Amino acid sequence: MIKNKPNLKKAQKRSNKDVEIIEDKIYIPNEMVNYGNNKKYLIQTYGCQANERDSENISGILELLGYERTYDENNSDFIIFNTCAIRENAENKVFGKIGSLKKLKRDNPSLVIALCGCMAQEEKTIEKILSSYQHLDLVFGTHNINNLPSLLLDALYSKEIIVDVTSEEGQVIENLPSNRASKFKAWVNIMFGCDKFCTYCIVPYTRGKERSRLMENILDEVNDLIKEGYQEITLLGQNVNAYGKDLNKGYGFAKLLENVAKTNIPRIRFMTSHPWDFTDEMIDVISKYDNIMPFIHLPVQSGNNGVLKKMGRRYSVEEYKILFDKLKKAKTDVAMSTDIIVGFPEETNEAFLDTLALVDYCQFDNAFTFAFSPRTGTPAAKMKDNVGEDEKKARLAILNEKVNGYFLKNNQRFFNKTLKVLVDGPSKKNSDVLSGYSEHNKLVNFKGSKMLIGKIVNVKINDVKSFSLEGELVD
Ligand code: 5AD
Ligand code: SF4
Repeated sequence: MIKNKPNLKKAQKRSNKDVEIIEDKIYIPNEMVNYGNNKKYLIQTYGCQANERDSENISGILELLGYERTYDENNSDFIIFNTCAIRENAENKVFGKIGSLKKLKRDNPSLVIALCGCMAQEEKTIEKILSSYQHLDLVFGTHNINNLPSLLLDALYSKEIIVDVTSEEGQVIENLPSNRASKFKAWVNIMFGCDKFCTYCIVPYTRGKERSRLMENILDEVNDLIKEGYQEITLLGQNVNAYGKDLNKGYGFAKLLENVAKTNIPRIRFMTSHPWDFTDEMIDVISKYDNIMPFIHLPVQSGNNGVLKKMGRRYSVEEYKILFDKLKKAKTDVAMSTDIIVGFPEETNEAFLDTLALVDYCQFDNAFTFAFSPRTGTPAAKMKDNVGEDEKKARLAILNEKVNGYFLKNNQRFFNKTLKVLVDGPSKKNSDVLSGYSEHNKLVNFKGSKMLIGKIVNVKINDVKSFSLEGELVD
């Protein structure tokens, strides 16, 4: 049963209406109270931190209904795919995974399978699901996570798949239940949505209008996290620098960041920054507080002015470099990372060489590199996608080799240095080794007791690689 279908045209609209802040807790129909007792759920999360945080809320809601988490799909009563729409290969992965569950669903018809997140907000996903993935039970979007108990009830009583996805500007929903993935590192949403409409990006359509949480609600959340012993928070938004613009309360990201820094939580990170909204006031705050970590993710996307213009990025290469240099100067030894797209429509080889030259100039500490992937509904998808797939791959390989060289070079500055590391847990590659992140967001591996997990410890670096540092625990 289709209750609501996404509509990309509608998703593109922006009004001047005030954003509604919903404080009420979620509504749980009587039938769903304790419905999850003795049942298990599995959430598979794709994409960015916004999705990670949404999954923590979904998990919180399901545990409120009595569900318990599992990581084994054969043992699940409810499987949820929280999806990402940013590139086609991310979507293909999800469809492949959902397809592979057909047999499980046939063997266990009481299993409920749901898809949510950014892919659900796309018209073409819904068409594809209705034509080829009828074994799904429920599709909901990024705007109605708080309705999950009622949506699940509908899905349980319906023989058909339930689709309830609205394309709207969105509200700010406070006080959702939350089951955080970590006991010492927390995501804190400061705003939702995006109004930048970069021509390649689907996010403004999937996540609605740029809307900020009230500063007092964010600070309350941070103070609660401190009381619970959290060591690190990451302030989240698609464009954190635009924080507060929609509120007209006379404060913005600089003020928020300063107030968060004054709570004295040991570590503060934030992402993602857009160069367009980065003010000197923000730079001053970043430089002034030692608990604001020396690591800034500042996506550049391209090193060519013509491409940047077609991308709708609102800055030139020269302006990016000025901002980059200011940040480097303001915060001692700050690590900078970026996102870069190659093969944007009509990116010539010369334009690509400009991107390589920018990488040589900035020498990033980290970079996420992507081949352009046309997203239906965005302006760039209507441009001629005229850089061939092989050429995109070749440019990506050249770019990756260059950025990787700088990762190693940058990491070398930490050789023999003692770094403060927040210990995450056993290393993914070797369970005898602990790993965590330094203040500069470098992955550090070292030997130590599991008692140190969740603590900030000193590690002296004795080996340096492109993607990690190795060291030993010191006092
Ligand atoms: N194709 C390729 N990369 C994209 N990104 C966003 N949209 C696309 C697209 N259509 C990249 C950008 C962004 C990062 C999160 O994903 O670099 O900063
Ligand atoms: Fe996050 Fe963007 Fe992917 Fe949506 S499309 S999940 S906002 S990365």
